[in-house]
Amino acid sequence: MKAGFRAGREPIETASNDELRSLQLERLKWSVRHAYDNVSHYRTKCQAQGVHPDGLRALEDLARFPFTTKQDLRETYPFGMFAVPVKNVVRIHASSGTTGKPTVVGYTQRDIDTWSELVARSIWAAGGRPGDRVQVAYGYGLFTGGLGAHYGAERLGCTVIPIGGGQTARQVQLICDFEPRIIMVTPSYMLNIIEEMTRAGVDPRLCSLEIGIFGAEPWTAAMRTEIEGRAGIDAIDIYGLSEVMGPGVASECAETKDGPTIWEDHFLPEIVDPATGRVLADGEAGELVFTTLTKEALPVIRYRTRDLTRLLPPTSRSMRRMDRISGRSDDMLIIRGVNVFPSQIEELILKVPALAPHYQLVVSREGHLDELEILVERRAGSSANDAEISPARRLERDIKSYVGVSARVVLREPGAIERSAGKAQRVVDHRSNGPRLP
Ligand code: DLL
Repeated sequence: MKAGFRAGREPIETASNDELRSLQLERLKWSVRHAYDNVSHYRTKCQAQGVHPDGLRALEDLARFPFTTKQDLRETYPFGMFAVPVKNVVRIHASSGTTGKPTVVGYTQRDIDTWSELVARSIWAAGGRPGDRVQVAYGYGLFTGGLGAHYGAERLGCTVIPIGGGQTARQVQLICDFEPRIIMVTPSYMLNIIEEMTRAGVDPRLCSLEIGIFGAEPWTAAMRTEIEGRAGIDAIDIYGLSEVMGPGVASECAETKDGPTIWEDHFLPEIVDPATGRVLADGEAGELVFTTLTKEALPVIRYRTRDLTRLLPPTSRSMRRMDRISGRSDDMLIIRGVNVFPSQIEELILKVPALAPHYQLVVSREGHLDELEILVERRAGSSANDAEISPARRLERDIKSYVGVSARVVLREPGAIERSAGKAQRVVDHRSNGPRLP
């Protein structure tokens, strides 16, 4: 073990840089060749760009290879990007496909084993240990959250409570009766569970939960403080996406809580300029791109995640970390020429004591002008008249000064904003047909 690195679940988590890079190169060569040989769509793209797997001699050579996008998965719907016969695929997941066709992903038995190991590694990094009880409140089904968490927790040797998303009163009852130490759920749904506990007369700080492993949607540092304060738990960030695997592509270590460590022995990250695709240096902000190194059924080469972040140096493991996702490039709203991310608004809401972190951004167009309205709830027990300046006006002022856009804030009563049992819908854009540009 390297000095300064704590033990992970597996020796590779603390391997030397040379060892890690040489493993990555060996696996990368295999993965690119596997995709090239078995996915005609990808081979055609490589040929059009004049690249061949034989040209891949160093990790840097990957930058010459074509990207893979959600569009590629849509064009080859449902199984065209699979690199193995469909009969060898033991599991299929798919995105909800709110816009256009869903994207379909597949796993061989070996892929499921790797995924389970990586989620087990993630739960371990969060502080979970064999024998812990884990309540899985991510949705089960085509979404990768529930089953991904479930298999990983079982692999680690935990006792799984597979309730899935929803049934909030029941979630609380099971927490009280089965006394899980860990909950895996979206951060926005965790807030609902906390509220339900309070309604049911249960003090969230006194319940059995000690660790929450939260992901599947962007959440801010301010939201972490809020959840940790209200529930008395360690809130850990887990990241992933179905096209690359599911939850557990990267996950935070409890000892540092400084952004998810990317499990680089299975996924090679790059950050690119979202407009030009140029590779950026570590530390620079841009779009996260992943190449899978070991996946059999659906190898993805340079997959454009649309998630915006930075690569950070290793701390508690010898693999690089990613910064908190600041937003998805698809979620970025352009309001009268100003870029606005829901996460910026979330940070500001949480600075106003009388506001609760339940909010929605509603965008419409009046004539040629974009209008941004922010629906936000009053915090239960607070009165709108407590402060010198009303919470709504304070938030409007803060948004104007920190984000640079005029927004109308509409204060709602506690519980008035629609709750979701999974990923929260933070943006409602009524400019459906028009472009987002002013
Ligand atoms: O959300 C997989 C997952 C499940 C991750 C449970 C973590 C926990 P998708 O439905 O394909 O997969 O959505 C992937 O969700 O590209 C990000 O935009 C967002 N996302 C996932 N985790 C985080 C996170 C799952 N920790 C998309 N922070 C990704 C911010 C996240 N955004």
